[in-house]
This record gives sequence, C-alpha cells and structure tokens, in this order.
Amino acid sequence: MILGGWSVMGTTNMNDFSYDSLLDKVKQLELEKQTLEQENNFQRKTIVSLERKMAKLDEITQQRDWLLDTLTKKISDLSRFQTDLFRAERFSTIGEMSARLAHDLRNPLAIIKNTIEVVKLKHSSAIPNDLMNMFRAIDNASSRMVFQLDEVLNFVRSSPLECDEYSLSAILDSAIDKIVIPDKIRVNRPQNDVYLFCDMEKIEAVFTNLLMNAIQAMENSGEITVRFSQNYDATTFEIEDSGPGIQENILDKIFEPLFTTKSHGTGLGLPTVKTIIQQHYGTIQVTNKPTIFSIFIPKRTES
Ligand SMILES: Nc1ncnc2c1ncn2[C@@H]1O[C@H](COP(=O)(O)OP(=O)(O)O)[C@@H](O)[C@H]1O
Ligand SMILES: [Mg+2]
Repeated sequence: MILGGWSVMGTTNMNDFSYDSLLDKVKQLELEKQTLEQENNFQRKTIVSLERKMAKLDEITQQRDWLLDTLTKKISDLSRFQTDLFRAERFSTIGEMSARLAHDLRNPLAIIKNTIEVVKLKHSSAIPNDLMNMFRAIDNASSRMVFQLDEVLNFVRSSPLECDEYSLSAILDSAIDKIVIPDKIRVNRPQNDVYLFCDMEKIEAVFTNLLMNAIQAMENSGEITVRFSQNYDATTFEIEDSGPGIQENILDKIFEPLFTTKSHGTGLGLPTVKTIIQQHYGTIQVTNKPTIFSIFIPKRTES
C-alpha cells in the first residue's frame, strides 16, 4: 500500500513534474518561436530595406552612367567648339583679306567691261568680226570674274537685313537680268506672284546663285522651273533643274564654305544662300531626281 501509495503519489508527482516541465517546455518553445518570428521579421525587413538600397544603387549607377555619357558628349562638343572657333578665327582673317582683294579687283574689272562696251558701241561698224569675237571673249571672262568676286563679297560681308514687302516675281526678274542665260536653257517662270517681307538684294543673290548653279550643272542646255507658293504662315519658293543632279556622297557637303566640284568654282554660293535664308529665319532643302532647291520662309511683318 505504502509502496502502492508512494507509487501513486510518485506517479502523481511524476505526472505533475512532466506536465509542468512540458508546459514550461511549450512556453519556452513558444518564446523561442516568438523570438524566431521576431528575428525572421527583422531579417525580412532587412532584406526589404537591402532590396530598396540595391534598387537605389541601381538608379544611382544609371544616373552615374548617364552623367558620364553627358560629360563625354559635352567634352567632345567643347573640343568641336574650340576647333570651330579656331576655324572661324582663321576664316575671319582670310575673309577680311579676300574681301579687300575682291573689292579692289572689282572696280578695274568693271572699267575693262565698260571700256569694251564703249569701244563696241563707238566703232561697231569698223570692228572686224574676229576682233568682235575677242571682245566677246574678254567680256565673258570679265563677267565670270565679276560674278566670282561678287560671290566672295556676298559671303564675307554679312550685313544686317533691310526688309520691306517685295514681289518675288520682280526680284526673280531682276536676278535673271543680271545673268547670262545660254540660248538652249529655258527658264519657266511661275505664273503666280507672291509678296515677301525680305531684303530684296539678298533674296536676289539667292536667286542668282541658285540659277547660276542650275545653268552650270546643265552644261548649257536644259530647263529650269521656278515655283512660288504661299500659305498663312510661310512662303515657299523652289528652283528645279533638269541637270544630272548632285551625287549622294556630296549632298551633305554642298553647303560647306569652299566646297566645290567645279574647276572655277568658289564654293561660296550655297553657303551664302544658306546664311541669307537663315537671316530670314527660313530653311533650305535640296532633293535629287529632279534637283530641286526648296526655300521656306516663315511669315513676319517686321525685321
Ligand atoms: N543645281 C545643281 N546641280 C548639281 N550640283 C549642284 C547644283 N547646285 C550646287 N551643286 C553642287 O554644289 C557645289 C557647291 O555649290 P556652290 O556653293 O554654289 O559653289 P560653286 O558653284 O562655286 O561650286 C557645286 O560645286 C556643285 O557640285
Ligand atoms: Mg555656285
């Protein structure tokens, strides 16, 4: 009994002990679980924050790459500007020299031309045919020289615009009067007229240059067509020629100063044209097949 009683008591104690210890164990485990969960939470938060930091780092890396890119571009722009500036300085010295030379040569040339005209007029009946032909050759050669000198002068002397409202047809007629058009070249003038707020002399130089280029490209025979159009915000004029066109590989060079494919060319005609059009806030485009130079000038009412 005692033994049994002890045994019962003992069993009860042992049960108590194992229940308590189990309970403790469970509590302890519960605590451990909570601690682990907390740690887990903490780690998850750390991971999220790390991921955010990584994303930020990615962003910063991208920004750094972009900045590096921009910096490299700016540095190359700067070195290009320096080269341009150097070229511009050289050009301005050469420009001043050529302007002086062109100006000094233009007057004696005009005297030669005029003298020949006077001789021809005064002695027309007495001049034999072969001498007349020589006079004509001198006249043509000096006209070509005057034209080339004018190209140089137009290019180097970029004066401010003197604008007014002008008829584009009148300007075209005046340009055509100033150039020699070979017999086998037909110029189709536009049927319509438009009025443009512009510097008349400069737009006339645009026409002269484009017409001369067309004539020279066609080697004395072909057709030139001039078109005018206008809408509420711009005036457009086009000069088309039936010549061979411009080789694709030089298309992007033809507006560069001094670029020419002609043995007697100055390479200053198209750069002058472009400068004049830009002074009028306009643009110039060229297309091949057929060759068309198109000029767009936005409408303005004051200079
Ligand atoms: N209508 C055209 N047809 C073919 N080529 C042209 C025409 N207009 C211009 N070009 C080309 O553009 C070059 C540059 O023209 P420009 O600046 O007027 O100089 P230049 O007439 O003195 O050569 C010409 O040498 C020529 O090769
Ligand atoms: Mg030319």
